[in-house]
Amino acid sequence: MNVTISKPHGGSLVNRINERYKLKPGLQQIELDEMALSDLELIAIGAYSPLTGFLGKKDYEAVLGKMKLSTGEAWSIPITLPVNEMVAKNIELGDEVHLVKNDVIYGALTVTEKYTPNKEIEAFKVYQTTDKAHPGVQKLYERENVYLAGPITLVKRPIKSKFEKYYLDPKQTRSVFNRLGWKTIVGFQTRNPVHRAHEYIQKTALETVDGLFLNPLVGETKQDDIPSDIRMESYLVLLKKYYPRDRVFLSVFPAAMRYAGPREAIFHAIVRKNYGCTHFIVGRDHAGVGNYYGTYDAQKIFSSFSENELGITPLFFEHSFYCSKCENMASAKTCPHDKEDHVILSGTKVREMLKKGLVPPKEFSRAEVVEVLIKGMQKTYTKI
Ligand code: ADX
Repeated sequence: MNVTISKPHGGSLVNRINERYKLKPGLQQIELDEMALSDLELIAIGAYSPLTGFLGKKDYEAVLGKMKLSTGEAWSIPITLPVNEMVAKNIELGDEVHLVKNDVIYGALTVTEKYTPNKEIEAFKVYQTTDKAHPGVQKLYERENVYLAGPITLVKRPIKSKFEKYYLDPKQTRSVFNRLGWKTIVGFQTRNPVHRAHEYIQKTALETVDGLFLNPLVGETKQDDIPSDIRMESYLVLLKKYYPRDRVFLSVFPAAMRYAGPREAIFHAIVRKNYGCTHFIVGRDHAGVGNYYGTYDAQKIFSSFSENELGITPLFFEHSFYCSKCENMASAKTCPHDKEDHVILSGTKVREMLKKGLVPPKEFSRAEVVEVLIKGMQKTYTKI
């Protein structure tokens, strides 16, 4: 059965992969950081449609100022390629350069522009703070100072983790959803293990749509987040034991985490539309960190866009928890009891417990998940 799912953002899926691309000897090589390498691949596979390259100044300014591309499509996170001033000086507009990491050429870029961003403005617009303790702002300031722009070609796919079979391009996830006959698909972003609250909101959404697309972010995250390989093990045990096999599909989102809260929620939704989702879950403090954003800011920002502009329907969830009086998962919308009856743990607290081998309560996280996490965290911890 061939059903119609969401159209990609901008109308069609971008494809800028060409593994038979003839590399030209002697071209200048631009060293990519981890974030730029993942962005290169995500542009090329169409996850960032309609982007075909790193943003030029007009698009960059429109994204910062209006959360739009200069062509009018909604876009909330600037996708940029920073290089240092010396490197930039040696590049002429129109030059083709190779994009390299650890001596491997992954891509080519035709340079159409180079410009110097005002990082303070970028930090303030994207992250709503210029505080360098914010991991996204810190990263922004760590990166080089001149942005190169232009269309890219991906000439070699970056090496995947041992979970290679879970790396699917938007074209492939779309064809999976078609094959499964799903008309409505809810995307779920996470940079964490799936705890009971995540499971609760996913399954609540699954009551009304055809399928759940569990799409954990596995690119660069801040140092104290749980490594993606450990998380992947935990997703697999959870899905095997507690989810209906024919209604859930797992594949990864190999992007870097920005921790940009509301703006990143919009970005996450648009990208999941490109992967084929019709709906997207936004819970409490989506893509947030510390106390930089209000609990529901990442939901409120959706009202800045019309339904057509985004082309994907957000599903909002209240802060969820286990209530010992209800003996159930609940939220303030469904539970009449006091805070003392609610099992709520912060991410930081849970990570600390896992590192020490302490077991979070079963009302917070499934025992099977905890077992995988403790094993994984202790291995990682003793390696450091
Ligand atoms: S992140 O990518 O948004 O930083 P995280 O794993 O913390 O990842 O959250 C994944 C999704 O679940 C987000 O939409 C977030 O808002 C939602 N979420 C996380 N915990 C809860 C909770 N206790 N109640 C409701 N929503 C939650």
